[in-house]
Amino acid sequence: MYLSICRDYEEMSVRCAQLIAAQIRLEPASVLGLATGSTPVGCYKELIRLYNEEGLDFSEIETINLDEYVGLSPENDQSYRYFMNHNLFDHVNVDPQLTHVPDGLRDNPQESAEAYETQAEWIGPIDMQLLGLGPNGHIGFNEPDDHFSVATHVVELTETTREANKRFFSSIDEVPTHAITLGIGQIMKARKVILIANGEAKAEALVKALFGPVTPEVPASILQLHPDLTVFCDEAAASKIVENGF
Ligand code: GLP
Repeated sequence: MYLSICRDYEEMSVRCAQLIAAQIRLEPASVLGLATGSTPVGCYKELIRLYNEEGLDFSEIETINLDEYVGLSPENDQSYRYFMNHNLFDHVNVDPQLTHVPDGLRDNPQESAEAYETQAEWIGPIDMQLLGLGPNGHIGFNEPDDHFSVATHVVELTETTREANKRFFSSIDEVPTHAITLGIGQIMKARKVILIANGEAKAEALVKALFGPVTPEVPASILQLHPDLTVFCDEAAASKIVENGF
């Protein structure tokens, strides 16, 4: 594992974007695994800047997003498809046909999850997977559990996660109760993984993920077994790592 403690969110975002840009330049037809949430927004901004100012070329890139809420349409501004279009895809020369997000609107979400798994298996392996970190240690929407879910699946969101994500909705009642998420299998099969985390609220989850026991109660702890993991975090998120002398 390579752990880089950055001064602040800005530096973390730029370093993360530089690594993704290097991947794109080295392998222009890379498959990128992408994440949503507030953490990667700065990284996506920097990638857009690199596209506009330095000619970073997304034309051959294929993307697989981690997850989507069940019941939200792509036009819903809280859906992850909307998020990706708005925060990255609409601003670079990626081919929209090559961007994939689970379909949260299918009548049978389980069938949607299975179809996404098949698609990911067909397109993958992911060359570079970007991950944020839930305050409870989740990655994608792989929530704490008594086992690691390997395949893409439908998940019932924990109250902690719905609470954490309610800031984007007008009330907690509007936060969907279920989501479709790529499982641990596709994430761990990615050739390279980048985990990003910023702010005090992620400090506990980050130290447990990187230095605690590998357990499905902290889904991100599985990343300790990944052979090519880069972690970018800010000083606040690293505070418990430093405090515990790791
Ligand atoms: C959501 C997403 C995760 C993300 C997490 C953290 O639950 N499904 O992929 O990593 O939120 O979000 P944030 O970056 O907003 O803290």
